Amino acid sequence: KKAANVLQRFPLVEVRGIPLMNLIAENWSSVWDFCPDPSDLLISTYPKAGTTWTQEIVDLLLNNGDAEICRRAPTSERIPFLEIFSPPPIPSGLELIKKMKPPRFIKTHLPIQLVPEGFWEKKCKVIYVARNAKDNLVSYYHFDRMNQTQPEPGPWEEYIQKFIKGKLAWGSWYDHVKGYWREREKRNILYLFYEDMKEDPRREIVRIMQYLDLSLPDDIIDKIVELTSFNVMKDNPMANYTFIPKIVFDQSISAFMRKGEVGDWTNYFTPAQSQMFDEDYTRQMADVDIPFRTSI
Ligand code: A3P
Repeated sequence: KKAANVLQRFPLVEVRGIPLMNLIAENWSSVWDFCPDPSDLLISTYPKAGTTWTQEIVDLLLNNGDAEICRRAPTSERIPFLEIFSPPPIPSGLELIKKMKPPRFIKTHLPIQLVPEGFWEKKCKVIYVARNAKDNLVSYYHFDRMNQTQPEPGPWEEYIQKFIKGKLAWGSWYDHVKGYWREREKRNILYLFYEDMKEDPRREIVRIMQYLDLSLPDDIIDKIVELTSFNVMKDNPMANYTFIPKIVFDQSISAFMRKGEVGDWTNYFTPAQSQMFDEDYTRQMADVDIPFRTSI
């Protein structure tokens, strides 16, 4: 018999056409009914677009660049994950959120149409981070290899097809980035790009600071740039997800802080795969012009 310390990968179940982990689908009504405080802030991304990085930036901005305060707890407790449900005794995102006093910072991967209405009714601030499709796909592939709660990624070639068809957890990347893009002005969403953050982290951190109506001195901003660099976060036990047990995230397969670069896709896509992907991309993105960059 296999040891009981092997976790089962959860199947995906659709919620209004979006494939989500079955535990989320089973608890969907409690997520949908969540009512935020107007002071709450949402950080939204398609998985692997730079969520953790943005969470760290926001937490540091809010705490005046104080590294010690920002090491008070793991990322997932400082900025809970709205829709996540794990097997007991691990608390759900909603349980963690409800224990906190507003203003709370909340992470989500939900596409815009599944974000609880209260966030819009209360006019909460929303930061969205988008990453170019090919790097996002590569990052998600490695994450699905090591994350023992999501379906097996299967062979690389098939994984590309699943991404194109929107069959991965949280659904279509294309619909996700488009949904928030279309609404960004009307709903006052700060729409950021991973590539811009890599190119000039300071500039993007200042944009986030201004969006949050904060004003920090230059030396504190410099400190936040340093503390949120890939290498520093990779070694930060409160940000690198080593706080998640190995049976859930097996980082011996692939580190959560894997590479943190723009253009790693060139190491995975064959020229033929790249061409096929680009042709499909042109079709799926024809109705919108979002300035994604696959290199910087
Ligand atoms: P790679 O797999 O390409 O390395 P998320 O937090 O949304 O799950 O995204 C994870 C991705 O963001 C991973 O990408 C991870 O390495 C990268 N990342 C995390 N922190 C980063 C940082 N400070 N700078 C650059 N990339 C970072």
